Amino acid sequence: MSTDPSLLLELAPVVEQLTDRHLATSKEWFPHELVPWGRASEAIAEPGWDEGLAPLPAGVRSSLFVNLLTEDNLPYYFNTIDRMFGSDGAWGTWARRWTAEEGRHSIVIRDYLTVTRMVDPVALERARMHQVSHGVVPEPPTVLDGLVYVALQELATRVAHRATGKLLDDRAGYDVMARVAADENLHHLFYRDLVSAALAIDPSSVVEAIERQVTDFEMPGTGIVDFEDHALAIARAGIYDLAIHHEQILVPVVLRHWGVEQLEGLTASAEAARARLVRRIERVGKAGRRMAERWAAQAQPVAVGA
Ligand SMILES: [Fe+2]
Ligand SMILES: [Fe+2]
Repeated sequence: MSTDPSLLLELAPVVEQLTDRHLATSKEWFPHELVPWGRASEAIAEPGWDEGLAPLPAGVRSSLFVNLLTEDNLPYYFNTIDRMFGSDGAWGTWARRWTAEEGRHSIVIRDYLTVTRMVDPVALERARMHQVSHGVVPEPPTVLDGLVYVALQELATRVAHRATGKLLDDRAGYDVMARVAADENLHHLFYRDLVSAALAIDPSSVVEAIERQVTDFEMPGTGIVDFEDHALAIARAGIYDLAIHHEQILVPVVLRHWGVEQLEGLTASAEAARARLVRRIERVGKAGRRMAERWAAQAQPVAVGA
């Protein structure tokens, strides 16, 4: 991984500004206030769980499972960010604050799931042990790739948490997921605007990083047991799929906010990367629409189950 000390130094004042903006915007909140403790019972500690305890569409249960395990993987995200951006100065201050905020997400989601019994607690704990013991996380090749990845990933996570909360049909669950999604949104805005600042410094290198990251993008969660099956169930439930990735991430952020099509003065290699990037985004949109049409034609009701 290349750390590019001069770029980190040049962006440090922006990191400081954006951290100040973040601190002024974010509000303190307490996981325990969002958990419906009154729904807990002695039976939670007894062995045995079946899906009849909390009927849910399969994709919604998969999404809760994958989203929580992704939050559980925080030590490895911190590790990558710490190595990539460094522990000193404004970058280190931001990374530690971000880590402290992220820690709340697994606390609140796990407590909510334990109390409501929406996910098998034994399967969940075994999957957490597997996930954290292996520590699989994306390793972006450069600082710019890392910034682009987290900008896109925080927004993708916000979209997935929010959509999951809406499908729970439970006010307490809706509030938990909306609260977490609001944090992810502020994290996204931080990184999105940091990428904009990097674009003003070195547009060609940033465009090449965006192209690589859009091409390689995967929802966080690789490394989770049966991830492919869960990802398919999540897509079928309309929580996160290619069409959503295109409409809610790539178009508003890459094309509209970063305005990659309007950038001027790019090197020949960045021009080529931009052309590939724009084609790629179009292809993702088309594939997403085709998939949505195919699923609509099959018109299966979402199955209730595990
Ligand atoms: Fe999070
Ligand atoms: Fe986040």
